Amino acid sequence: MKEIVRVELDHRGYDIIVGPGVMASAGRLIAETIGKRRRLIVVTDQTVAKRHLPALEHALDREGLADGGSAILLPPGERTKSFEHLEQLLEAVLGRGIERSTVLVALGGGVVGDLVGFTAAIALRGLDFIQIPTTLLAQVDSSVGGKTGINSRHGKNLIGAFHQPRLVLADTQVMDTLPKRDVLSGYAEVVKYGLIGDPCFFEWLEQKGTAVVAGESDARRYAVRVSCQAKARIVGADEREAGSRALLNLGHTFGHALEAACDFGDTLTHGEAVAIGMVLAFDLSVMLGLAPAADALRVRRHLFEVGLPCGPADVPGLPWHPEHLLAHMSRDKKVRDGRITFVLTRGIGQAFLAADVDSADVLKILALQSRP
Ligand code: GLY
Repeated sequence: MKEIVRVELDHRGYDIIVGPGVMASAGRLIAETIGKRRRLIVVTDQTVAKRHLPALEHALDREGLADGGSAILLPPGERTKSFEHLEQLLEAVLGRGIERSTVLVALGGGVVGDLVGFTAAIALRGLDFIQIPTTLLAQVDSSVGGKTGINSRHGKNLIGAFHQPRLVLADTQVMDTLPKRDVLSGYAEVVKYGLIGDPCFFEWLEQKGTAVVAGESDARRYAVRVSCQAKARIVGADEREAGSRALLNLGHTFGHALEAACDFGDTLTHGEAVAIGMVLAFDLSVMLGLAPAADALRVRRHLFEVGLPCGPADVPGLPWHPEHLLAHMSRDKKVRDGRITFVLTRGIGQAFLAADVDSADVLKILALQSRP
C-alpha cells in the first residue's frame, strides 16, 4: 500500500510517495510527475549502489527512462559532503552535456541527498531533482523540505541552498537492509515529530516504536507517513525557517554540540545526539518550571526502551564537558544576535522557540547529567 503526502508550496509543491515497494514503481511515478522525455542522471554512493541501484535502473528501464549513461557513484560517508566532492560531481554532471531539462536523481541517505540537491541547485543555475531516500533519517527528514548543502571546515551544513525536489520516493522496504544503529538514528527524528506537536503520535510510538525499529512493515509505513506529514506541514508554513520551521531543531542545539564534541565521528550518530538533546531539552524545560517532570520521564523511558541513549552514562567515551558543549552551541547556526535559540517545551507535543535561555541554566542542566 502506497500513501501520498503533499508538500504545499504554491507552484513548487510536490508529492512524497511512501510505502513498501515504491522503488519498483519509480519509473512510472517519475514519468507521471515530470514526463517521459526528460533525461535523468542517477547519483548514489557505492554502498547504496550495491543494494538498490539495479532495482532502480530496472524500474527506470521499464518506462524507457534510462538514458544509457551509468549512474554516478560517490564514496559513502559524511566526508563526501565537501567542496572537493561537490566540484567532482558538478564536473561529472556537466561533462555529460546536460541541459536545463536534465533531472538529477539522488538515491541514498542524507549525504547523497544533500550533495545532489545542492549540485542540482547550482548546475546551470538550477536543475530539477528527485529524492529517493534509502535511510529512515533521510525518509523522515533530510529528503523533505529542500535544505541542500555541504559541510565547511567551520561546521556542518554551512554552505547550501534551499532547493525543493520535484518528487520524493520513500520506499519503506529498502530500510530492511539498514543496520539497526542507522534505523535508530532515524527513529530519533520520528520521535521528534511527536514531541514537537503530536502527543497522539508519541503515544502511538510508545506502543509501536519497537515494531517500527524492528521493521514491521505497516508500523514503519505509518511512522514514515505521519513524520512526512508533520514535516510537510511545517515546511509548507515556513519554507525558509523564518520562524516555526526552527521547531524541527528540537534536541538539535544540544545534539549538534555533542556531535561536534565527538568530531562528528562514530562515537555518536546524529540520531543518538538528537535523542540525548531531546532529553536535555525536556529536562531544561522541567527545571525552568515550563513542563511536567512526568513528561520528561516518559520521553526518557521511551528512548531508552527502543535502544537510544538518553545521557552520557549510555554512551561510553562520550566527551561531556559542560563548558565545551556550551561553547559549541554558541557557534551553531541557530545563534541570532549572539543568543542561542532553544526549542523548549510545555510538555509532550507542545514545543516552542525560546530565544532568551540563560546560559547558566544550560550549564546547570548539562552538569546535572554527568552526576552518577
Ligand atoms: N532538518 C531540519 C529542517 O529540515 O529544517
